[in-house]
Amino acid sequence: MSITSQAELAGLQRISAAVGTTLKQMRDYAQPGMTTKALDEYGGQILAALGAKSAPRLTYGFPGWTCISVNNEVAHGIPSDRKVLQAGDLVNIDVSAELDGYWADNGGSFVLGADIHHHQPLVDASRQILRTALGRIRGGVRIADIGGLIEAEARKAGFRVIKNLVGHGIGRSLHEEPKEIPCFYDRYNLKRFKKNSVVAVETFISTRATLAHPLSDGWTLATKDGSFVAQHEHTIVITDGAPIILTAANRIWE
Ligand code: CO
Ligand code: CO
Repeated sequence: MSITSQAELAGLQRISAAVGTTLKQMRDYAQPGMTTKALDEYGGQILAALGAKSAPRLTYGFPGWTCISVNNEVAHGIPSDRKVLQAGDLVNIDVSAELDGYWADNGGSFVLGADIHHHQPLVDASRQILRTALGRIRGGVRIADIGGLIEAEARKAGFRVIKNLVGHGIGRSLHEEPKEIPCFYDRYNLKRFKKNSVVAVETFISTRATLAHPLSDGWTLATKDGSFVAQHEHTIVITDGAPIILTAANRIWE
């Protein structure tokens, strides 16, 4: 959506604070030995208390309040009472929700407890790259150039990017124009970021694979070759200068 009034900005700020707070509290709550279902139920209670409705459930009938993807899962992981979190796991929580007709989307990967599998450099690269990309996005910038920047920064850090998962416009629904904000230089994408528009920008930084494949559960996307992927995502408003980071409440850079 494109913001045309202070009331619209306020509506987006309310839902963005709700998803940011939920993501932060879920990350703080996650412990080895906990099932991803228990973590999701906790997140679902926070969303409900804030008056927000789970976006993937509302939009796609997703079987969970939030998406929780562990280790080789890249995105859209289904919370499960058979999936027990372990120390050293690479965990991604993605929280998107609706409140009063406004939508926001916020995600982040982290290492659970001690980093015994050495995932932290991947996580740090993803966080840093999102920060760098957001620093460059403003009205008039080509979407393809930001994709190229993300890919180049990933390569500099010794990583690759997933090419079939993308950021997207958001605001009055979960996925809006522009439909694709990729993590690579897509020369066929001629679109530009527009001032006052609302977008969710996401990194998908990979140790090796460049594609995520659907698992037989019909939802989860995972790498086939054992690669690990870190994702960080913020919902932002584009301006003539630095963007307004609506979902900053989760504090992924601290
Ligand atoms: Co998301
Ligand atoms: Co998204």
